[in-house]
Amino acid sequence: MRRLLIGVSRRIEYSLRADFFSHLQGLDPAFFENNRTGSIMALISNDLDAVRNFLGPGIMNFFNTVFVFISTLAVMFTINVKLTLFALIAVPLLPLIVSRLSARLYKTFKISQEHYAFMSARTQESIAGIKVIKSFTQEANEVENFADINRQYIRKNMDLARVRSIFWPLMILIGGIGSLVVFLVGGMQVINGQLTLGQFVQFSAYILAITWPLISLGWVINLIQRGEVSMLRLNKVFAMRPDIRQPDKPAGIKKIRGDISFKNVSFTYPKQDSYETYIAGSSKDKAEAKNSKRTAKNSGRKPPENLGTGAGVEVLHNISFDIAAGTRTGIVGFTGSGKSTLVNLIPRLYDASNGSITVDGTDLRRMPLKTLRASIAYVTQDAFIFSKTIRENIMFGKEEELYSLTREELDNKIISASKISHLHEDIEIFPEGYNTIVGERGITLSGGQKQRLAIARAIITEPRILILDDSFSSVDTNTEELILSDIKKMTKDLTVIIISHRISTIKDSDLIIVMDEGSITDTGTHRELLKKSAIYQKLYKRQQLSDELHEEL
Ligand SMILES: Nc1ncnc2c1ncn2[C@@H]1O[C@H](COP(=O)(O)OP(=O)(O)OP(=O)(O)O)[C@@H](O)[C@H]1O
Ligand SMILES: [Mg+2]
Repeated sequence: MRRLLIGVSRRIEYSLRADFFSHLQGLDPAFFENNRTGSIMALISNDLDAVRNFLGPGIMNFFNTVFVFISTLAVMFTINVKLTLFALIAVPLLPLIVSRLSARLYKTFKISQEHYAFMSARTQESIAGIKVIKSFTQEANEVENFADINRQYIRKNMDLARVRSIFWPLMILIGGIGSLVVFLVGGMQVINGQLTLGQFVQFSAYILAITWPLISLGWVINLIQRGEVSMLRLNKVFAMRPDIRQPDKPAGIKKIRGDISFKNVSFTYPKQDSYETYIAGSSKDKAEAKNSKRTAKNSGRKPPENLGTGAGVEVLHNISFDIAAGTRTGIVGFTGSGKSTLVNLIPRLYDASNGSITVDGTDLRRMPLKTLRASIAYVTQDAFIFSKTIRENIMFGKEEELYSLTREELDNKIISASKISHLHEDIEIFPEGYNTIVGERGITLSGGQKQRLAIARAIITEPRILILDDSFSSVDTNTEELILSDIKKMTKDLTVIIISHRISTIKDSDLIIVMDEGSITDTGTHRELLKKSAIYQKLYKRQQLSDELHEEL
């Protein structure tokens, strides 16, 4: 029985974790902007543990306890009803104690768990930002900060331990009162001859036997409370639904041509509910735990740090333009003008707040999501490199389609993509070639190598629409030109959108969109814009200046 339950609880834990992970994968980017990585990790480790402990030992001991308690009681009743009732004299206190204490247990455990999540989020951020921390010599500061958080965690756990530690003695007390009464009343009965000495001894043994389940009940309640807290935390995330989903009745589109049209599109970054409602506080937490009647707002509890700064503010205003399939479009504008935001809308990483976006005349919201995303290769501004081999990084996301190829065909494909992105010559120098493992986030690659790897990953997919967001910023202009012309040769009817801070990158585009503060100020070709767009002229002059500077150096 014990084995079985433990086994089952492990299996439930396994599938709960798997479900949770796949649920996370389905959530919108907005969720990950509003919840820190570390605190999500805490859910999948610490909280899942608590749930498993509830399911395994918790449930098992609960049944054990109840069974022993009831069966012992039944035997006691058959010996002497009156004495049994006396033995139970303190038991009515039980629900009172349990309900009061378990409410406190619930609160303190919740706070401790939330603090744990906060702590692991901080740890994760410190590790991810280690270079920044070091270059600003903030190590000591970080250590001190962490020590503080760690201390708070210990304190919160001590609060928890204190509540837990009251449980056992109280349970023992209830059992003890029972024993005492039985000794008194039973003793009298023996003297009066109503009870044999043998029965009295037997009874005393039983009274001890029911004390133990009472004590273990305290422990079980503890596990149940913890499991409940953690399950609720998990359920909060499970209840979140991505806003961007496969349409209910998708248009029957298998292949995309590549016309893109924006009509009066405006956009505000969504503020998706964060599962965290916790702000690592000081002593306030304790006061709040006691005074739960006050609402979160009144007690001055702030919402968690919002990681997306612009949520709630409109960042794109009334955007309209048309891109014909097979053409090249450049987008320029000052930093923060909304260029990345705009292209995020094309593969539906976010949905437009107003207006409509169509591809080949079909509204994106009616387009099968998989077809749409599979047809678009998007090299994001900060290309993410996985800690796998270069080969795997280039193949990423296409394993299914590339599966049918022979090893040789596959290699050729990978190499030709790397040649187009001019990464091949770099890889050849690596001792392990394409099997070189790049570190977490690709730290063993240079900035330009990372960018070219991301481009190779994008073009191996043979997309219909290619979006390059500032993908050449760490690549020199010569190589950039070569890559662009090779991409053109590779697929002649590919729709390309290029965001760049360098005019040279986009000046040959069929259409150039100039953005400023979330609006399109001008569109046209390089020549047209030089004449009519003040912002374009400014960007162009700045580029010329920096070119001259470089030449002089
Ligand atoms: N995930 C986000 N959540 C909330 N606001 C955001 C988010 N990303 C960007 N913003 C805001 O939207 C505005 C436009 O940002 P965007 O990244 O589109 O600019 P950009 O033109 O790509 O700038 P850059 O040239 O520096 O890459 C900025 O004000 C920014 O603060
Ligand atoms: Mg950007």
